[in-house]
Amino acid sequence: MILVTGATGTVGRELVSILAARGEPVRAVSRNPAAAGLPAGVEVVAADLTEPASLAPHLTGVHAAFLIWPSTDPVLARRLAPEVARTLAARVPRIVYLSAPGAEQPESFWGIVERAVEESGADWAFLRPTGFAANTLAWADQIRAGDVVRWPYGGAARSLIHERDIAEVAAAALTTDGHLGARHLLSGPATVIQEEQVRAIGRVIGRELRWAEMPRDEAHAMLAGAFGDAAFADAALDGWAAFVDRPEQVTTTVESVTGHPARPYGQWAADHADAFR
Ligand SMILES: NC(=O)c1ccc[n+]([C@@H]2O[C@H](COP(=O)([O-])OP(=O)(O)OC[C@H]3O[C@@H](n4cnc5c(N)ncnc54)[C@H](OP(=O)(O)O)[C@@H]3O)[C@@H](O)[C@H]2O)c1
Repeated sequence: MILVTGATGTVGRELVSILAARGEPVRAVSRNPAAAGLPAGVEVVAADLTEPASLAPHLTGVHAAFLIWPSTDPVLARRLAPEVARTLAARVPRIVYLSAPGAEQPESFWGIVERAVEESGADWAFLRPTGFAANTLAWADQIRAGDVVRWPYGGAARSLIHERDIAEVAAAALTTDGHLGARHLLSGPATVIQEEQVRAIGRVIGRELRWAEMPRDEAHAMLAGAFGDAAFADAALDGWAAFVDRPEQVTTTVESVTGHPARPYGQWAADHADAFR
């Protein structure tokens, strides 16, 4: 049995469908199972990671758990991640945590959760994807309403990754033994600047879309509202600013784990064209 937290999210939903299609028994966690909309045959249980004890009744027979962390707040991570990791490790021998390259900074919430998992006594693997291509769904409202995307740092070159590639690597780390102790830095196959990402969306929906640069102050107000975390908004903007001069890292880890190259951004846009129509 594989336990999947974040099962209704961008990566978890793909992971559940991959595992279910392979006939792996899956127990999906949601705070609201009735609304989960997961494939038939998947067991869906109610639990909340901010109430670690709520996980405990669902761990019988689980041999591997996929863990996401649902908050960007380092204080919350420090308070709750050790208990979540210990609760899992008491019954589950392997934890695969969806982390990020930012875990290199020990005081980031990703770093705090990684340490909690390491100290839990379970075997572990950490997935550190670069930006999710799915983050660009944030442009969908603007694109449905017109031909211009206003956003900061059009020249930021990102190696955005398709959620299906992350989920395939997660499935491998959960079900095969070669990834224990790995910190997999995962990325798309190449960097694409944000302005070009917008044009790529335009191509798949048959429209000519344009970029309009949003000043940083305005972007900060927008992102702080969206994330509910002003410090995290600053960090995101600093990241994009840095990627203008120094493109984000590209790795071949998806290919070495899955046997196929990481899907390009244009493929992601084609797979999600309807979200922009
Ligand atoms: N976006 C990026 O560029 C990026 C890059 C690297 C790493 N990451 C990491 O990826 C993770 C998010 O993954 P995602 O994008 O696949 O998720 P997502 O689409 O943001 O969905 C959030 C998921 O978390 C669940 N969730 C929210 N609060 C919860 C709680 N209190 N207890 C239990 N479950 C809760 C939700 O399930 P229910 O609503 O059904 O309960 C949902 O399945 C984050 O930790 C993020 O740091 C993101």
